[in-house]
Amino acid sequence: QLPEKGEVKWESPSNIALVKYWGKYGEQLPKNSSISFTLSHCKTTTQLSYQKKNSSQKFSFEVYLDGNRTESFEPKIEKFFERIEKYLPFLKDYHFKIETQNSFPHSSGIASSASGMSALALCLLALERQANSVMTDDFFNQKASFLARLGSGSAARSIKGNLVVWGEHTAVNKSSNLYGVEFSDKVHEVFKNYQDTILLVDRGEKQVSSTVGHNLMYNHPFAEQRFLQANSNLEKILTVLQSGNLDEFIFIVEQEALSLHAMMMSSSPYFILMKPNTLEIINKIWEYRETHKSKICFTLDAGANVHVLYPENEKAKVLDFIKNQLVGYCQKGMYICDEVGFGAKPL
Ligand code: PMV
Repeated sequence: QLPEKGEVKWESPSNIALVKYWGKYGEQLPKNSSISFTLSHCKTTTQLSYQKKNSSQKFSFEVYLDGNRTESFEPKIEKFFERIEKYLPFLKDYHFKIETQNSFPHSSGIASSASGMSALALCLLALERQANSVMTDDFFNQKASFLARLGSGSAARSIKGNLVVWGEHTAVNKSSNLYGVEFSDKVHEVFKNYQDTILLVDRGEKQVSSTVGHNLMYNHPFAEQRFLQANSNLEKILTVLQSGNLDEFIFIVEQEALSLHAMMMSSSPYFILMKPNTLEIINKIWEYRETHKSKICFTLDAGANVHVLYPENEKAKVLDFIKNQLVGYCQKGMYICDEVGFGAKPL
């Protein structure tokens, strides 16, 4: 029996892909496998208050971001509810109040869809779990990832684990297109607390939404090669994550970032999502790596911000380098220090 009313609260992290997901089919299924580091500090906290209602004709919810009613999120959530109703058939029986906060600054250009959608999926599933005491933690995590995927593909990788693979791949046991799985093989020490400092180059609205971006892969002349490259890079990076070979890690991660952007630059219509400062930063990182024998590298999402990745033992020096040489390229000098985390948790 589902409760009449109540509330649940979850926090869920963002993640940064090392091998990128770009291109999908069917119900938010990926054209290639991807793997990401779960982040620790960039996260969304969502409280879901629910109350049974009389009519079950349509969805009923209100959304608050940082305490302010935010109607602009409603169409996205309506669409999410439509997609997941088959798997959570009670959705129309309730009125929901969704109160959400992000740990990272508003409109920082950091995508909140992975953390936001996974946090909401977790809250909704936690409600169902109250009437289903036999639901195991493994099943809960798997279904949460499955539901989160229907909100935003990359959100499937934000539930559990420090390294998460999404997309069926022969090299990963139990991997699936339907949900993310924790990469549970023995990972080399160096990756345990890997650092990600996010340089905010452009805080503006995304030029290309990820929905539009993924769709551009449908008629893309290089799509099939790209999917093959990603699947091959995934296999390679799994070996690297175990061996700790940072030179190979750097090569794969930077190639993935540039390939993602190359796909956008060669689609129709085409886009350049990097800004001049993105390139300045990349060149400085390469220069620093060369002159300091450092293992620093960069990755990019579908935007201009740069994720600077490096092992924890270089933290002090790299932060000095960022403060002295890279902050000037960031909007209002803004950057966020993050590191590998472990996944979502109830509050
Ligand atoms: O989850 P979406 O649909 O917003 O797609 C995100 C895709 C990238 O962030 C560019 C890459 C990835 O794998 O996270």
